[in-house]
Amino acid sequence: MIKITENSLRDGHQSLLATRMRTEDLIEAAKIFDSIGFHSLEVWGGATYDTCLRYLKEDPFERLNEFKKVCVKTPLQMLLRGQNLIGYRHYADDVVEEFVRLSAEAGMDIFRIFDAFNDARNLKKAIESVKKYGKHAQGAICYTTSPVHSIARFVSYAKELVSIGCDSLAIKDMAGLLTPFAAYELVKALKAEINVSLSLHTHSTAGFAFGAHLKAVEAGVDVLDLANSALSEGTSHPCTQSMVATLKDTQWDSKLDIVPMEEAADILRKNRRKYKKFESQYNQIDTRVLVSQIPGGMISNMANQLKEQNALDRMDEVMREIPNVRADFGYVPLVTPSSQIVGTQAVLNVLMGERYKTITTETRNVIRGLYGRTPAPLNQALVEKVLNEGEEMLSVRPADLLKPELQKAKEESKAFAKSPQDVLSYAIFGSIAETFLQERNSNTLSPEPLESFEERCDDKLPKEFEIVVNGEHYAIKVEGSGEKTDEVRPFFIRVDGELKEVFVESIDKSLEGKIQKEQKAGALPQVTVPGHAKSPMPGTLTKIKVKVGDKVNQGDTLAIVEAMKMENEVLSPIDGVVKEIYAAQGMQIGSDVAIMLLG
Ligand code: CO
Repeated sequence: MIKITENSLRDGHQSLLATRMRTEDLIEAAKIFDSIGFHSLEVWGGATYDTCLRYLKEDPFERLNEFKKVCVKTPLQMLLRGQNLIGYRHYADDVVEEFVRLSAEAGMDIFRIFDAFNDARNLKKAIESVKKYGKHAQGAICYTTSPVHSIARFVSYAKELVSIGCDSLAIKDMAGLLTPFAAYELVKALKAEINVSLSLHTHSTAGFAFGAHLKAVEAGVDVLDLANSALSEGTSHPCTQSMVATLKDTQWDSKLDIVPMEEAADILRKNRRKYKKFESQYNQIDTRVLVSQIPGGMISNMANQLKEQNALDRMDEVMREIPNVRADFGYVPLVTPSSQIVGTQAVLNVLMGERYKTITTETRNVIRGLYGRTPAPLNQALVEKVLNEGEEMLSVRPADLLKPELQKAKEESKAFAKSPQDVLSYAIFGSIAETFLQERNSNTLSPEPLESFEERCDDKLPKEFEIVVNGEHYAIKVEGSGEKTDEVRPFFIRVDGELKEVFVESIDKSLEGKIQKEQKAGALPQVTVPGHAKSPMPGTLTKIKVKVGDKVNQGDTLAIVEAMKMENEVLSPIDGVVKEIYAAQGMQIGSDVAIMLLG
């Protein structure tokens, strides 16, 4: 009998709708799913937590509590990034343990834990903590293809994961690269060598995931990760109902009832419509992934990021650059955070017109060994470029070098953190969590709108009003608007009962003009002198760490710029004193402007 993990409530909308679905739009389906008899329901993960804080303005622990209330029979599952937890860097061991403690207490049952580099040392602390709190630790093998990855290598990694305490294993094929026959071979080999339960997690991006699942079933896999039809296929998973029907009356029959799944599908399908704005434009079969290896969620996020930087037209170039960067990085699997690190560096290589002209902080950290061992050696030229004289790559477990962080986070967040969960959010997400918590405390949370810019503008337009011209009153009623052509939109307006068609420059265009003007007014100077400090890449200036009059040395961190969810340091170009700060925290900045002047 095949068991099924229903993953629409986590990865389904993560892959298709940039993780934007709100608890209220998922909870009814969760309630139905709980009655069906699934092996587990995956409902939480790094992207869920991050998006809750950053965009949805929901307390991530509240979401978990809500799910736990309605899911009384089915184990809840989460995806954990090993020592990276739910963030993008390695956290100290005390933060790892606190995260697991609080999640376990809130009702998380199965922790699926992975490390982006498949470096088992980075899973150890998380596994140990999960066991300590009496929960199920599942080790996930990040699947990828490269000249250095082989079945033997995956099998030996699987054995290592079992030896350090994993209760079960999963093949985590985040980009959907596992072809059906490769799935068969891999599952066969793993099942021959290990005797714990094995799950398969893959994505439909390249069109063959359903086949991969079927071949894995034949080869003896125990659990399949699937998604309800309303949030399946494309960059998501194969459909739960289709698989249940396929296996019915065979030796692998899941014995699950499709009828309630259809009820849940109706609800989710209806709710999905609200999120049209976030639908990935890459939501059908996309075989480019076979070359680029960009995982499902990453493709839509990268398109969004490039759009913000007015460079969506360079997506294809970035997709071509990614395999090059990945090879330089020792063929790391592409999954958070390595996907962001490789993706951001590839974006920079393309936008700067020269490879590694600008190197992000995270790229430097990968080269220094701060994320662990890469599967193959790094590009030697890049290593030499990054490492300082006499500096060597790290050889110990990266977290061994980290001092405890929880106490410091507690002190720093005293003013706005009201619970251990708040402190934890701050310890992991820093200023993002701080903003959320302060807004929550002052009742000023404003979730990102679901409608497009244009829809919101149309909504705000008064439909009926009175105007006075030369003392004469006219009753005006806007009856509707037509299709926009050449920046002009026809409006149908009734003036004192008489219908007229008027053509106006469209509303969004005039607002755009206003915004552009505002941005120009606050524009930053171009970099012209050696003392001008600039950002390594376009993004949001999240923190300025110095003030006018501070003495700094070349290479000191002056500010933090966030782009593509990665923090990049703005380093001091010279030794000197901060003379003038041009930019303000929260500003969108380009990479060719001066943030401050040093002299
Ligand atoms: Co996935």
